[in-house]
Amino acid sequence: MDLSNITDLMRKTQASIDEKGFLFKSTDAVVNPLSLSLSLSLSHSHSQAVGSDGIRVMMESALTARDRVGVQDFVLLENHTSEVAFIENLRKRFKENLIYTYIGSVLVSMNPYKELEIYTKQHMERYRGVNFYEVSPHIYAVADNAYRSMRTERRDQCILISGESGAGKTEASKKVLQYYAITCPANEHVQTVKDRLLQSNPVLEAFGNAKTLRNDNSSRFGKYMDIQFDFKGAPVGGHILNYLLEKSRVVHQSHGERNFHIFYQLIEGAEDDLLRRLGLERNAQQYQYLVKGNCPKVSSINDRNDWKTVRKALSIIGFTEDEVEELLNIIASVLHLGNVQYGGEDSGCSYITTETQIKYLARLLGVDGTVLKEALTHKKITAKGEELMSPLNQEQAASARDALSKAIYGRTFTWLVNKINDSLAFKEESFSSKNASVIGLLDIYGFEVFQNNSFEQFCINYCNEKLQQLFIELTLKSEQDEYEAEGITWEPVQYFNNKIICDLVEEKFKGIISILVSIPQHSPSFHKLADGKTRKVMGREEFRLSHYAGEVNYNVNGFLDKNNDLLFRNLKEAATQFKNSLAKLMEILMSKEPSYVRCIKPNDAKQAGRFDEVLIRHQVKYLGLMENLRVRRAGFAYRRRYETFLQRYKSLCPDTWPNWDGRLVDGVSTLVKHLGYKPEEYKLGRTKIFIRFPKTLFATEDALEVRKHSLATQLQSSWKGYSQKNKYQKMRQAAIRVQAWWRGILARREAKRRREAANTIRRFIKGFIYRHQPRCPENEYFLDYVRYSFLMKLHRSLPKTVLDKSWPTPPPALVEASEQLRKLCMQNMVWKYCKSISPEWKHQLEQKMVASEIFKDKKDNYPQSVSKLFVNTRLNGEDINPKVLQTLGNEKMKYAVSITKYDRKGYKARNRQLLLMADSAVIVEEAKVKQRIDYNSLKGISVSSLSDGMFVFHVACEDNKQKGDVVLQNEHVIETITKVAICADKINSINITQGSIKFDVAQGKEGIIDFTSGSELLIAKAKNGHLSVTAPRLNSR
Ligand SMILES: Nc1ncnc2c1ncn2[C@@H]1O[C@H](COP(=O)(O)OP(=O)(O)OP(=O)(O)O)[C@@H](O)[C@H]1O
Ligand SMILES: [Mg+2]
Repeated sequence: MDLSNITDLMRKTQASIDEKGFLFKSTDAVVNPLSLSLSLSLSHSHSQAVGSDGIRVMMESALTARDRVGVQDFVLLENHTSEVAFIENLRKRFKENLIYTYIGSVLVSMNPYKELEIYTKQHMERYRGVNFYEVSPHIYAVADNAYRSMRTERRDQCILISGESGAGKTEASKKVLQYYAITCPANEHVQTVKDRLLQSNPVLEAFGNAKTLRNDNSSRFGKYMDIQFDFKGAPVGGHILNYLLEKSRVVHQSHGERNFHIFYQLIEGAEDDLLRRLGLERNAQQYQYLVKGNCPKVSSINDRNDWKTVRKALSIIGFTEDEVEELLNIIASVLHLGNVQYGGEDSGCSYITTETQIKYLARLLGVDGTVLKEALTHKKITAKGEELMSPLNQEQAASARDALSKAIYGRTFTWLVNKINDSLAFKEESFSSKNASVIGLLDIYGFEVFQNNSFEQFCINYCNEKLQQLFIELTLKSEQDEYEAEGITWEPVQYFNNKIICDLVEEKFKGIISILVSIPQHSPSFHKLADGKTRKVMGREEFRLSHYAGEVNYNVNGFLDKNNDLLFRNLKEAATQFKNSLAKLMEILMSKEPSYVRCIKPNDAKQAGRFDEVLIRHQVKYLGLMENLRVRRAGFAYRRRYETFLQRYKSLCPDTWPNWDGRLVDGVSTLVKHLGYKPEEYKLGRTKIFIRFPKTLFATEDALEVRKHSLATQLQSSWKGYSQKNKYQKMRQAAIRVQAWWRGILARREAKRRREAANTIRRFIKGFIYRHQPRCPENEYFLDYVRYSFLMKLHRSLPKTVLDKSWPTPPPALVEASEQLRKLCMQNMVWKYCKSISPEWKHQLEQKMVASEIFKDKKDNYPQSVSKLFVNTRLNGEDINPKVLQTLGNEKMKYAVSITKYDRKGYKARNRQLLLMADSAVIVEEAKVKQRIDYNSLKGISVSSLSDGMFVFHVACEDNKQKGDVVLQNEHVIETITKVAICADKINSINITQGSIKFDVAQGKEGIIDFTSGSELLIAKAKNGHLSVTAPRLNSR
């Protein structure tokens, strides 16, 4: 706030009190006057609206029951041209607290002057996403409709709330805001925005509303608020435009009225400490600016509570403590200014009599006291290029003081709005306002008539006039014009067009504003323009304007401040600026699709339940509600350009879906025929289709809604297919990649294995080449391997038994070791074997060993004998004659066997028994020991190499007892000879001869046995006197 230079400010006070607030946001949106059309919304974009169906049904049935009172929509009135019927319907509904009624899509709202239970969250839910006609009329239905239109058609909306002062405009606008705050989707950021949007109200009302005779909370400024929504439909920002604040109220209030609420709130609610800092007392009566209306307390207002609300709201909006303090300093300084008193000198100069006030002011405003005093008592004039300070008289000084107060307050208000706008501004850069959809909310001060109406009333009423003009333009006129243009048969409806009044005010050169501007020096004299009758009831300084809402006398005196010669310029600027800002506002509104709320005030006494018919009839008349109804009844509820209509609903008809190729009108015609529209339900114009009843459109909307589901399903399934395919492709790619990668790994592994294998083979081959060289790097591997593999092979194939002679062939380097091993192994096996055999078997083997030593590879029938076990004896005690046994006494007999003895002369065969004793072999015949051969005299034993059983004992002849060599034969020759060899210890004296055996017959005579091989054993004396033995050939040889 630029308050640092109060002198400068003073100058400006005298000169011009400009209104920064007039700066409008320019919009380049297209003006569309053709929008009586129900801003019917076209989709249930949030059909999840109703929380619980049960509650909804319950509420609905209860409400519809009550709603049977009268008609919900004036269009349904039997006699739609009758004003009486119209008022009667209003009355019936009002009595039942049914304050809302439609005229088509326009909402007529009666101020109930009491709290009704129709603004709960459940009510909001009930209206969310539901078509207009489905539920009883409500401000929420209008809000929801605008919201849905914005979302589905992406068109900016505005809700125009009109009605005279106290009719409930501000309340209605708050309800709309609350509805959006509660029902729109939100995240954390949006929640802050919502809070700030909501909290901007109490702040602006504290500074911009006041109690008037018409309304205890009358808006003394115009407000247009844009709520910005992002593409998801969440409120993301806001912007407020304010219009001409009624600043005169700061310094003067009519009887029964108050200054702006904030002054009383501050005095009533502020903590003692704060009041002390501001130099204020807790008593409104102390302040000149608060006593004029003589109405410090109002029963309907609790200033103390409101103070708390405002303080809280300020901090939610984002005001810092310092900013709040600064703000209150200024509010307090206005009160102090009001208490500045002047004294007059005879010279006409004035002086300030209240020093304390100046002290406070200097501190609160941060200016120099002396300069301030001078500024409050002087004015600056420029004479011949020189600036001079000229003193003001008492009256002029008081006026200057008030002008300063108004200026300070006005600028503070503008600053406040700007601060709020800063806090509501959407801050995310990515979000350009182009993407934002907007719903504008217009709550302007209502039309008002007072005893004394000043410039500000003029502006307020002019503003209302303009809004009415807009309403007429958009509803009555343009609608009918459109029917004409579209070639629709139409019976024109007569209505009063207030354009003439607007022109009267704003026309160039001729308009009231122009006149005010162009006659600066004197009071503009409208008086003489009046007719004689009017002139009588009007003062000379008055003029009367027949507004659409009634006649108002304006006092030009109030327009002009005679004591301030520069004020004219102010007025001029103010009026022109106001005019321009209104023109801009109209532009903004025209660029949006409007929804209307027409507020009606039931009585002037602010009383609940009182239905003042005269007052109401008056409002019904000037609001043009009857004409509105007539146009609505005769006209069409809904119209859309062919392309828009076709675009939206083409999916409902197979012929137009997905695209229509022919002329648009044919497409629409085909479409509506397919939808079953009856001829009276619609008309086809030149460029648009006109639909008479909302229900027709709603039915179409419902069909679209159903269709959307199936389209959505189709889309979903295509999308699902697509995304699944995508997913599959991705997975496939991934699988391929994994596979490739894995294959790579495998291949690398394989390659590595091969490389290693090749290396191994190479090393092997090299090793093989060098295998005969001494151990060197080239062959060490090979050698080691050969060794290793030999040892492993050996390990696997060690002989299991002593008889198994197999043994792997060792590599040259291991020949010695192998041999050692083999021996060790054999030894081990033998040792093991030996450990495990029985003594008998050992004995047997020893004998077999001996047999082997003697006969192996020497005698033909030896191999056959190997497998036959030797027996201990072949003849037992009972086989031998007891006499023999007796003869032999207790000599131990080691072996006995039957033999055949051949005579040495005739080679006669005789059966004998051979008994082996400890030191001699005994030949026995029956009971007679025939011959005893001492082992010592046994020189040797001869056998043939053939398979026969012949053997000859060579006995030493020195012994006379001996009868020479003995020729014997038996089947067990191997066993018998072995036993003899062992017993006689003659192992080395066994002769195995081939061909013939010679033997001693006695005294130098020699016998010969000839051996030949033959087919069978044959022993006989040959012609040559030799004993001829033919031995059978055995297979083994
Ligand atoms: N829907 C409502 N329910 C209950 N009370 C209401 C309703 N609408 C209005 N009122 C009462 O009427 C009073 C005046 O309403 P409001 O301030 O909205 O009028 P206005 O049209 O904004 O008047 P002005 O043009 O003077 O600003 C409110 O303070 C409130 O007491
Ligand atoms: Mg208001």
